Amino acid sequence: MDSPQKAKYSLSTNLLFLFLLLSTNLLTLFFSTTFSSSCSFIPKEKSASQMLSESPSTTETTPRLPEEFLAFTSAQKLPFGYNPNLNSDAIYPSAGQACTLFPDELRRFMSYNVNGSCPDDELLAQKLLLKGCEPLPRRRCRPAASSHYVEPYPLPTSYWSTPPDSSVVWTAYTCKNYSCLISRKRNQKGFDDCKDCFDLEGVEKTRWTAKESRVGGLDFAIDEVLATRKPGTIRIGLDIGGGAATFAVRMMERNITIVTTSMNLNGPFSNFIASRGVVPLYTSISQRLPFFDNTLDIVHSMHVLSNWIPTTLLHFLVFDIYRVLRPGGVFWLDHFFCTGDQLEDLYGPLIQSVGFNKLKWVVGRKLDRGPELREMYLSALLEKPFNNSRS
Ligand SMILES: *[C@@H]1O[C@H](CO)[C@@H](O)[C@H](O)[C@H]1NC(C)=O
Ligand SMILES: *[C@@H]1O[C@H](CO)[C@@H](O)[C@H](O)[C@H]1NC(C)=O
Ligand SMILES: *[C@@H]1O[C@H](CO)[C@@H](O)[C@H](O)[C@H]1NC(C)=O
Ligand SMILES: *[C@@H]1O[C@H](CO)[C@@H](O)[C@H](O)[C@H]1NC(C)=O
Repeated sequence: MDSPQKAKYSLSTNLLFLFLLLSTNLLTLFFSTTFSSSCSFIPKEKSASQMLSESPSTTETTPRLPEEFLAFTSAQKLPFGYNPNLNSDAIYPSAGQACTLFPDELRRFMSYNVNGSCPDDELLAQKLLLKGCEPLPRRRCRPAASSHYVEPYPLPTSYWSTPPDSSVVWTAYTCKNYSCLISRKRNQKGFDDCKDCFDLEGVEKTRWTAKESRVGGLDFAIDEVLATRKPGTIRIGLDIGGGAATFAVRMMERNITIVTTSMNLNGPFSNFIASRGVVPLYTSISQRLPFFDNTLDIVHSMHVLSNWIPTTLLHFLVFDIYRVLRPGGVFWLDHFFCTGDQLEDLYGPLIQSVGFNKLKWVVGRKLDRGPELREMYLSALLEKPFNNSRS
């Protein structure tokens, strides 16, 4: 990546300049009298982002980003003029605010044949996305697809069947077939997200299915959680970072619809989830949840929320979960992990400060990486109160 500092600088300079353009005359006057020249904010030499595009730019103030990026994100006039719903006569299609901070990757991503086939560049796209270029800009091309695509198994067989290898484009992954993914928990050293998730005959088979959690246990049972609500009132929800979506499948078996967010971290998680017959949502933990306020009955998340997430981001995220849950909806925080001190001083208070009622709160030791790390798990069942407008 060449000089992200410089790109950042020029972006903020441009934003400042845009702000100046849009601000009131008074403010402009203030700035232009405070600094002898009001033009002193325009960098004299070409900035990094201006040099991004080889072809000439159309206006002075638009940074010269990839042509297709500009084609997508610039103002698009509504054919029928002013629209009161939009309170505007134009739409400004958006991509993640951070996209322009990664000019090299953005240019590679947006260089493709318009109307043609997209490059087979899933890794690049996900890299950009995970760093904060989310949503990715749209493209006008057809994605790579397997040339021997096979339709999914019919329901309900698809819930518990390994899909055909030919339903996946394998380029981005170390494994090139499902049998490799299934056996990687035995054969492969090192970290991979959700290493044993693809093995539907393994631990996936029994997750959350006990009658109830053992006394003091961190593994709550689905039926036990559902029993805390009036029968039938948990109907729709979200599983954040749901791996192979076994949670959604288990819920589907109870006629509950769960959407599962997942990234494709060294495995075709989204394809696998869709092949099983539940809905994958390709979004990271950074993005605002694409649901309206007070709508979902349940949000579940296992092993994803933990101390690897920057604290401020986690704070926003827990509030976002609170936002999308309906009053009386439940947040099942499943195996959150951190060190004991962090749980006591930071994460416990942070989670509790958001305003949920605690239905269950179980803390236990996490020993898989050795006791010397003093890691702890928290499993909690948190209810959004009916009277939730506290200040
Ligand atoms: C892509 O297709 C559209 C619609 O046919 C056409 O207007 C446009 O010129 C094409 N662009 C390129 C680069 O082929
Ligand atoms: C799956 O891929 C591995 C290598 O990753 C290969 O050794 C094996 O033969 C493949 N299996 C099938 C069924 O294609
Ligand atoms: C799910 O819905 C179907 C059709 O309404 C019904 O026959 C079945 O009993 C339901 N299953 C459960 C576990 O509620
Ligand atoms: C919510 O608050 C109102 C007024 O403060 C009260 O009448 C009502 O009983 C409360 N509801 C619940 C479920 O606590």
